[in-house]
Amino acid sequence: MRKIDFKSLPHHIAIVMDGNGRWAQRQGVGRIFGHIKGVKTVKHVVRACREMGIKFLTLYAFSMENWDRPDREVQALMKLLEKYLHSEEREMLDNNIRLLSIGNLEFLKDPIKKALLESTRKTSQNTGMTLILALSYGGRDEITEAAKKMATDAMEGRIPPQEITKEVFARYLYTANIPDPDLIIRTSGEYRLSNFLLWQSAYAELYFTEVLWPDFTREELMKAIADYQQRQRRFGLTSEQITKDFD
Ligand code: IPE
Ligand code: IPE
Ligand code: MG
Repeated sequence: MRKIDFKSLPHHIAIVMDGNGRWAQRQGVGRIFGHIKGVKTVKHVVRACREMGIKFLTLYAFSMENWDRPDREVQALMKLLEKYLHSEEREMLDNNIRLLSIGNLEFLKDPIKKALLESTRKTSQNTGMTLILALSYGGRDEITEAAKKMATDAMEGRIPPQEITKEVFARYLYTANIPDPDLIIRTSGEYRLSNFLLWQSAYAELYFTEVLWPDFTREELMKAIADYQQRQRRFGLTSEQITKDFD
């Protein structure tokens, strides 16, 4: 097992789970099979993070742009999501996992929305890991919606424009009560964020791997964390300032 320091784990890991389609293609099967295998990886990774003591895990499961994929694939992904929510609720309740979601849920069909809200409600008192599903999520959509809400509050006198700060703005985002991610992992050898956590990723450490999501394992996760632990997060300061702060 890779050497990681359990005392300095990233507080919040966010993952762009990419490569299901290519995995399926390489096996000579339809894309949907890649998504089915991808759900298995989700279960393993959620368990690994919980066992390790990660406090927040965000999974990019479906982007706003993914709605434009062929209808058959969208329907299959939605079915898988619904099945996942039903099958994992027990696991979340038994393991003290709190479920949250970020994204525009209005686009989701009623049974999925219902399952999601039910599991969120039932797990809301859990104090172990928080699992955040980014569903029907787009970073620019999130920021635009936040600006719209804030503008309404300003217009109606609830917030004077001169009192708007970045902290105030962040409270209008889907992630209002969620800390920023420390580590963002993207699988499948793509080096981009694809509209994921644009505001929140300002100082996240980024980790890219060629491994396709269905092949991602606990060992790969450990590798990402070990890599993260080699980095010095400076937040704009100098190295000397950072090391002095730790003295
Ligand atoms: C990620 O895998 C899953 C979703 C975006 C829902 P992809 O379906 O994007 O797989 P590739 O990138 O086509 O291989
Ligand atoms: C990002 O993957 C979205 C999710 C993993 C849910 P995509 O496969 O949609 O991203 P692009 O199109 O390659 O940028
Ligand atoms: Mg992809």
